[in-house]
Amino acid sequence: MKSYNIAIVGATGLVGQTFLKVLDEYQISINELRLFASERSLGKNILFQNKKYIVDTIKPGSFNNIDYALFSAGASTSLKYASQAVSEGAIVIDNSSCFRMDKDVPLVVPEVNLYQAKKASLIANPNCSTIQSVLPLHPLHEKFQVLQVQYNTYQAVSGAGSNAITDLKNTRNGKDESHFPYNISETCIPQIDVFLEDGYTKEEHKMIDETRKILNDDSIEITATCVRVPIENSHAVSIRVKLKKETTVEEIKELLQNQKGIKVIDDIANNLYPVTMHSNGNDFVYVGRLREDLFSDNTFLLYTVSDNIRKGAASNAIQIMLGVES
Ligand code: A2P
Repeated sequence: MKSYNIAIVGATGLVGQTFLKVLDEYQISINELRLFASERSLGKNILFQNKKYIVDTIKPGSFNNIDYALFSAGASTSLKYASQAVSEGAIVIDNSSCFRMDKDVPLVVPEVNLYQAKKASLIANPNCSTIQSVLPLHPLHEKFQVLQVQYNTYQAVSGAGSNAITDLKNTRNGKDESHFPYNISETCIPQIDVFLEDGYTKEEHKMIDETRKILNDDSIEITATCVRVPIENSHAVSIRVKLKKETTVEEIKELLQNQKGIKVIDDIANNLYPVTMHSNGNDFVYVGRLREDLFSDNTFLLYTVSDNIRKGAASNAIQIMLGVES
Protein backbone atom coordinates (compact mmCIF):
# COMPACT_ATOMS: atom_id res chain seq x y z
CA MET A 1 0.00 0.00 0.00
CA LYS A 2 1.33 3.43 -0.98
CA SER A 3 2.19 5.87 1.78
CA TYR A 4 1.34 9.48 0.91
CA ASN A 5 2.89 12.85 1.65
CA ILE A 6 -0.12 15.10 2.08
CA ALA A 7 -0.54 18.84 2.67
CA ILE A 8 -3.84 20.33 3.81
CA VAL A 9 -4.42 24.02 3.22
CA GLY A 10 -7.23 25.30 5.46
CA ALA A 11 -6.55 22.55 8.01
CA THR A 12 -8.33 24.38 10.84
CA GLY A 13 -11.57 24.85 8.87
CA LEU A 14 -14.63 22.62 8.66
CA VAL A 15 -13.59 20.94 5.43
CA GLY A 16 -9.91 20.84 6.50
CA GLN A 17 -10.82 19.00 9.69
CA THR A 18 -13.02 16.64 7.70
CA PHE A 19 -10.10 15.89 5.33
CA LEU A 20 -8.28 14.54 8.41
CA LYS A 21 -11.31 12.56 9.57
CA VAL A 22 -11.82 10.98 6.15
CA LEU A 23 -8.09 10.20 5.67
CA ASP A 24 -8.26 8.35 8.98
CA GLU A 25 -11.55 6.59 8.24
CA TYR A 26 -10.38 5.47 4.79
CA GLN A 27 -7.22 4.13 6.47
CA ILE A 28 -4.95 5.96 4.06
CA SER A 29 -1.33 5.39 4.90
CA ILE A 30 0.37 8.74 5.53
CA ASN A 31 4.12 9.18 5.43
CA GLU A 32 4.16 12.94 5.98
CA LEU A 33 1.38 15.38 6.81
CA ARG A 34 1.71 19.16 6.63
CA LEU A 35 -1.09 21.38 7.91
CA PHE A 36 -1.50 24.97 6.78
CA ALA A 37 -3.89 27.76 7.74
CA SER A 38 -3.82 31.55 8.11
CA GLU A 39 -1.54 33.60 10.40
CA ARG A 40 -4.32 33.40 13.01
CA SER A 41 -3.67 29.70 13.49
CA LEU A 42 0.11 29.70 13.29
CA GLY A 43 1.55 27.36 15.93
CA LYS A 44 -1.78 25.78 16.81
CA ASN A 45 -1.66 22.04 17.63
CA ILE A 46 -3.82 19.53 15.81
CA LEU A 47 -3.96 15.93 16.98
CA PHE A 48 -4.18 13.32 14.22
CA GLN A 49 -3.83 9.58 14.81
CA ASN A 50 -2.30 10.25 18.24
CA LYS A 51 0.37 12.52 16.81
CA LYS A 52 0.62 16.25 17.36
CA TYR A 53 0.97 18.45 14.26
CA ILE A 54 1.76 22.15 14.36
CA VAL A 55 -0.18 24.39 11.99
CA ASP A 56 2.03 26.50 9.75
CA THR A 57 1.56 29.24 7.16
CA ILE A 58 2.57 28.64 3.54
CA LYS A 59 6.12 29.61 2.58
CA PRO A 60 8.34 28.87 -0.43
CA GLY A 61 9.11 25.15 -0.37
CA SER A 62 6.05 24.26 1.72
CA PHE A 63 4.95 21.74 -0.92
CA ASN A 64 8.35 20.20 -1.72
CA ASN A 65 8.03 16.38 -1.72
CA ILE A 66 4.25 16.58 -1.26
CA ASP A 67 2.23 14.09 -3.35
CA TYR A 68 -1.18 15.71 -2.88
CA ALA A 69 -2.12 19.18 -1.62
CA LEU A 70 -5.76 19.36 -0.57
CA PHE A 71 -6.93 22.99 -0.60
CA SER A 72 -10.01 24.28 1.20
CA ALA A 73 -9.21 27.79 2.35
CA GLY A 74 -11.30 29.88 -0.04
CA ALA A 75 -10.74 31.12 -3.57
CA SER A 76 -8.22 33.86 -2.75
CA THR A 77 -5.91 31.41 -0.95
CA SER A 78 -6.16 28.93 -3.82
CA LEU A 79 -5.43 31.67 -6.36
CA LYS A 80 -2.40 32.72 -4.35
CA TYR A 81 -0.88 29.30 -3.55
CA ALA A 82 -2.19 26.54 -5.86
CA SER A 83 0.30 27.33 -8.62
CA GLN A 84 3.14 27.30 -6.07
CA ALA A 85 2.04 23.85 -4.90
CA VAL A 86 1.94 22.57 -8.48
CA SER A 87 5.34 24.06 -9.33
CA GLU A 88 6.82 22.46 -6.21
CA GLY A 89 5.59 19.09 -7.49
CA ALA A 90 2.30 18.46 -5.70
CA ILE A 91 -0.96 17.41 -7.32
CA VAL A 92 -3.50 19.97 -6.13
CA ILE A 93 -7.13 19.06 -5.47
CA ASP A 94 -8.85 22.38 -4.92
CA ASN A 95 -12.17 22.77 -3.18
CA SER A 96 -12.62 26.44 -4.02
CA SER A 97 -14.56 27.77 -7.00
CA CYS A 98 -11.68 29.65 -8.61
CA PHE A 99 -10.45 27.05 -11.15
CA ARG A 100 -13.65 25.07 -11.68
CA MET A 101 -14.65 26.60 -14.99
CA ASP A 102 -11.10 26.84 -16.33
CA LYS A 103 -11.17 24.71 -19.50
CA ASP A 104 -7.77 23.21 -18.73
CA VAL A 105 -8.74 22.13 -15.20
CA PRO A 106 -10.79 18.95 -14.83
CA LEU A 107 -13.85 19.29 -12.60
CA VAL A 108 -14.28 15.86 -11.14
CA VAL A 109 -16.81 13.66 -9.42
CA PRO A 110 -15.18 10.22 -9.35
CA GLU A 111 -18.39 8.31 -10.11
CA VAL A 112 -18.85 10.42 -13.25
CA ASN A 113 -15.56 11.55 -14.83
CA LEU A 114 -12.58 10.24 -12.89
CA TYR A 115 -10.70 9.61 -16.14
CA GLN A 116 -10.31 13.39 -16.56
CA ALA A 117 -8.31 13.60 -13.32
CA LYS A 118 -5.65 11.13 -14.41
CA LYS A 119 -2.38 12.90 -15.21
CA ALA A 120 -3.75 16.33 -14.16
CA SER A 121 -1.68 18.42 -11.75
CA LEU A 122 -4.57 20.67 -10.73
CA ILE A 123 -8.01 19.16 -10.22
CA ALA A 124 -11.08 21.11 -9.12
CA ASN A 125 -13.61 19.71 -6.66
CA PRO A 126 -17.11 20.83 -7.68
CA ASN A 127 -19.65 22.82 -5.67
CA CYS A 128 -21.30 20.71 -2.95
CA SER A 129 -24.86 20.89 -4.31
CA THR A 130 -23.59 20.14 -7.81
CA ILE A 131 -21.83 16.96 -6.67
CA GLN A 132 -24.94 15.43 -5.11
CA SER A 133 -27.01 16.40 -8.16
CA VAL A 134 -24.76 15.03 -10.91
CA LEU A 135 -24.52 11.63 -9.24
CA PRO A 136 -28.11 10.73 -10.21
CA LEU A 137 -28.17 12.92 -13.34
CA HIS A 138 -25.13 11.23 -14.91
CA PRO A 139 -26.70 7.75 -15.41
CA LEU A 140 -29.95 9.40 -16.53
CA HIS A 141 -28.02 11.42 -19.11
CA GLU A 142 -26.14 8.37 -20.35
CA LYS A 143 -29.27 6.27 -20.76
CA PHE A 144 -32.06 8.73 -21.59
CA GLN A 145 -30.32 12.04 -22.41
CA VAL A 146 -31.08 14.93 -20.10
CA LEU A 147 -32.66 17.89 -21.92
CA GLN A 148 -33.60 20.23 -19.06
CA VAL A 149 -32.95 20.47 -15.34
CA GLN A 150 -34.53 22.64 -12.65
CA TYR A 151 -32.77 22.70 -9.28
CA ASN A 152 -34.21 23.94 -5.99
CA THR A 153 -31.81 23.62 -3.09
CA TYR A 154 -32.19 23.54 0.68
CA GLN A 155 -28.63 24.15 1.85
CA ALA A 156 -27.27 23.69 5.36
CA VAL A 157 -25.31 26.45 7.08
CA SER A 158 -22.13 24.32 7.33
CA GLY A 159 -21.63 25.05 3.61
CA ALA A 160 -20.77 28.62 4.61
CA GLY A 161 -18.00 27.59 7.04
CA SER A 162 -17.53 27.42 10.78
CA ASN A 163 -18.60 31.04 11.43
CA ALA A 164 -21.96 30.25 9.83
CA ILE A 165 -22.56 27.34 12.21
CA THR A 166 -21.73 29.61 15.12
CA ASP A 167 -24.26 32.13 13.77
CA LEU A 168 -26.98 29.45 13.60
CA LYS A 169 -26.26 28.34 17.18
CA ASN A 170 -26.07 31.91 18.52
CA THR A 171 -29.29 33.04 16.83
CA ARG A 172 -31.05 29.90 18.13
CA ASN A 173 -30.05 31.16 21.58
CA GLY A 174 -31.51 34.61 20.98
CA LYS A 175 -28.35 36.47 19.95
CA ASP A 176 -28.22 38.83 16.95
CA GLU A 177 -27.05 37.51 13.58
CA SER A 178 -23.36 37.97 12.80
CA HIS A 179 -22.76 36.03 9.57
CA PHE A 180 -25.97 35.81 7.54
CA PRO A 181 -27.92 38.95 6.53
CA TYR A 182 -31.03 37.64 8.36
CA ASN A 183 -31.63 35.53 11.47
CA ILE A 184 -30.94 32.08 9.98
CA SER A 185 -32.52 30.29 12.93
CA GLU A 186 -35.90 31.75 11.99
CA THR A 187 -35.95 31.99 8.22
CA CYS A 188 -34.81 30.45 4.97
CA ILE A 189 -32.59 32.81 2.96
CA PRO A 190 -32.92 32.71 -0.86
CA GLN A 191 -29.40 34.00 -1.38
CA ILE A 192 -26.20 31.96 -1.38
CA ASP A 193 -23.10 33.87 -2.46
CA VAL A 194 -23.40 37.22 -4.27
CA PHE A 195 -26.00 38.32 -6.82
CA LEU A 196 -24.87 38.60 -10.44
CA GLU A 197 -26.12 40.96 -13.14
CA ASP A 198 -28.72 38.51 -14.46
CA GLY A 199 -30.44 38.27 -11.07
CA TYR A 200 -29.09 34.80 -10.29
CA THR A 201 -26.69 34.22 -7.41
CA LYS A 202 -23.16 32.97 -7.97
CA GLU A 203 -24.11 29.68 -6.25
CA GLU A 204 -26.96 29.20 -8.75
CA HIS A 205 -24.55 29.82 -11.62
CA LYS A 206 -22.08 27.34 -10.11
CA MET A 207 -24.76 24.64 -10.21
CA ILE A 208 -25.78 25.51 -13.77
CA ASP A 209 -22.29 25.88 -15.26
CA GLU A 210 -20.62 23.06 -13.34
CA THR A 211 -23.37 20.54 -14.15
CA ARG A 212 -22.94 21.23 -17.87
CA LYS A 213 -19.17 20.92 -17.59
CA ILE A 214 -19.22 17.65 -15.59
CA LEU A 215 -21.88 16.05 -17.81
CA ASN A 216 -19.91 17.38 -20.78
CA ASP A 217 -22.98 18.77 -22.50
CA ASP A 218 -23.61 22.47 -22.97
CA SER A 219 -26.94 21.82 -24.64
CA ILE A 220 -28.62 20.93 -21.32
CA GLU A 221 -30.92 23.77 -20.25
CA ILE A 222 -30.59 24.32 -16.50
CA THR A 223 -32.09 26.68 -13.97
CA ALA A 224 -31.54 26.87 -10.21
CA THR A 225 -32.79 28.56 -7.06
CA CYS A 226 -30.46 28.10 -4.09
CA VAL A 227 -31.77 28.61 -0.57
CA ARG A 228 -30.00 28.52 2.81
CA VAL A 229 -32.09 26.74 5.45
CA PRO A 230 -31.76 26.56 9.27
CA ILE A 231 -30.11 23.12 9.22
CA GLU A 232 -26.60 22.55 10.55
CA ASN A 233 -25.40 19.97 8.04
CA SER A 234 -26.38 18.13 4.82
CA HIS A 235 -27.82 19.79 1.76
CA ALA A 236 -31.02 18.76 -0.01
CA VAL A 237 -31.62 19.35 -3.72
CA SER A 238 -34.97 18.91 -5.42
CA ILE A 239 -34.40 18.11 -9.09
CA ARG A 240 -36.88 18.27 -11.97
CA VAL A 241 -35.41 16.64 -15.05
CA LYS A 242 -36.77 16.40 -18.60
CA LEU A 243 -35.44 13.44 -20.58
CA LYS A 244 -35.32 12.84 -24.33
CA LYS A 245 -35.88 9.08 -24.42
CA GLU A 246 -39.08 7.80 -22.89
CA THR A 247 -38.85 6.00 -19.57
CA THR A 248 -40.74 5.32 -16.35
CA VAL A 249 -40.31 6.01 -12.64
CA GLU A 250 -39.69 2.29 -12.10
CA GLU A 251 -36.92 2.18 -14.70
CA ILE A 252 -35.25 5.28 -13.22
CA LYS A 253 -35.47 3.82 -9.72
CA GLU A 254 -33.86 0.58 -10.82
CA LEU A 255 -31.11 2.46 -12.65
CA LEU A 256 -30.30 4.65 -9.63
CA GLN A 257 -30.41 1.69 -7.21
CA ASN A 258 -27.50 0.20 -9.13
CA GLN A 259 -25.27 3.28 -9.08
CA LYS A 260 -22.13 3.45 -6.98
CA GLY A 261 -22.41 6.17 -4.33
CA ILE A 262 -26.22 6.37 -4.42
CA LYS A 263 -28.75 4.92 -1.99
CA VAL A 264 -32.41 5.09 -2.98
CA ILE A 265 -34.83 5.62 -0.08
CA ASP A 266 -38.27 5.85 -1.60
CA ASP A 267 -41.02 4.09 0.31
CA ILE A 268 -43.74 6.67 0.76
CA ALA A 269 -46.19 4.13 2.16
CA ASN A 270 -43.93 4.08 5.22
CA ASN A 271 -42.97 7.78 5.05
CA LEU A 272 -39.47 6.87 4.01
CA TYR A 273 -37.48 9.40 1.96
CA PRO A 274 -34.03 10.98 2.30
CA VAL A 275 -33.46 13.14 5.39
CA THR A 276 -30.28 14.59 6.89
CA MET A 277 -30.24 11.85 9.52
CA HIS A 278 -29.42 9.41 6.74
CA SER A 279 -26.62 11.42 5.19
CA ASN A 280 -24.80 13.14 8.06
CA GLY A 281 -21.42 11.49 8.60
CA ASN A 282 -21.27 9.31 5.49
CA ASP A 283 -20.48 9.64 1.78
CA PHE A 284 -23.65 8.51 0.03
CA VAL A 285 -26.07 10.58 -1.97
CA TYR A 286 -29.59 9.60 -0.90
CA VAL A 287 -32.32 9.80 -3.54
CA GLY A 288 -36.08 9.58 -3.11
CA ARG A 289 -39.50 11.13 -3.84
CA LEU A 290 -39.22 9.82 -7.39
CA ARG A 291 -42.27 10.74 -9.40
CA GLU A 292 -43.48 11.95 -12.75
CA ASP A 293 -44.29 15.57 -13.58
CA LEU A 294 -48.07 15.84 -13.94
CA PHE A 295 -48.06 18.17 -16.92
CA SER A 296 -44.85 17.76 -18.88
CA ASP A 297 -43.98 14.66 -20.90
CA ASN A 298 -41.08 12.48 -19.88
CA THR A 299 -40.22 14.77 -16.99
CA PHE A 300 -39.39 13.46 -13.53
CA LEU A 301 -38.86 14.77 -10.01
CA LEU A 302 -36.38 13.50 -7.48
CA TYR A 303 -35.06 14.68 -4.14
CA THR A 304 -31.47 14.19 -2.99
CA VAL A 305 -29.77 14.62 0.39
CA SER A 306 -26.04 14.41 1.03
CA ASP A 307 -23.43 15.47 3.60
CA ASN A 308 -22.12 18.66 2.00
CA ILE A 309 -18.89 18.71 4.00
CA ARG A 310 -18.09 15.06 3.21
CA LYS A 311 -19.31 13.98 -0.26
CA GLY A 312 -19.85 17.65 -1.13
CA ALA A 313 -16.24 18.53 -0.31
CA ALA A 314 -13.66 16.51 1.69
CA SER A 315 -14.62 12.94 0.75
CA ASN A 316 -15.05 13.75 -2.93
CA ALA A 317 -11.52 15.24 -2.98
CA ILE A 318 -10.01 12.22 -1.24
CA GLN A 319 -11.93 9.85 -3.52
CA ILE A 320 -10.40 11.74 -6.47
CA MET A 321 -6.94 11.23 -4.96
CA LEU A 322 -7.53 7.50 -4.48
CA GLY A 323 -9.05 7.22 -7.95
CA VAL A 324 -6.06 8.90 -9.60
CA GLU A 325 -3.79 6.42 -7.82
CA SER A 326 -5.83 3.31 -8.73
P1 A2P B 1 -7.80 30.02 9.97
O1 A2P B 1 -8.52 29.06 10.86
O2 A2P B 1 -6.40 30.27 10.43
O3 A2P B 1 -8.57 31.27 9.68
P2 A2P B 1 -13.92 27.65 7.21
O4 A2P B 1 -14.41 27.62 5.77
O5 A2P B 1 -14.43 26.50 8.01
O6 A2P B 1 -14.19 28.96 7.85
O7 A2P B 1 -12.32 27.47 7.12
C1 A2P B 1 -11.48 28.26 6.30
C2 A2P B 1 -10.06 27.72 6.40
O8 A2P B 1 -9.22 28.49 5.51
C3 A2P B 1 -9.45 27.87 7.78
O9 A2P B 1 -8.61 26.76 8.03
C4 A2P B 1 -8.63 29.13 7.64
O10 A2P B 1 -7.58 29.25 8.55
C5 A2P B 1 -8.08 28.90 6.25
N1 A2P B 1 -7.47 30.11 5.68
C6 A2P B 1 -8.02 31.34 5.56
N2 A2P B 1 -7.13 32.20 4.99
C7 A2P B 1 -6.00 31.49 4.74
C8 A2P B 1 -4.72 31.79 4.16
N3 A2P B 1 -4.42 33.01 3.72
N4 A2P B 1 -3.78 30.80 4.10
C9 A2P B 1 -4.07 29.55 4.53
N5 A2P B 1 -5.26 29.20 5.08
C10 A2P B 1 -6.21 30.16 5.19
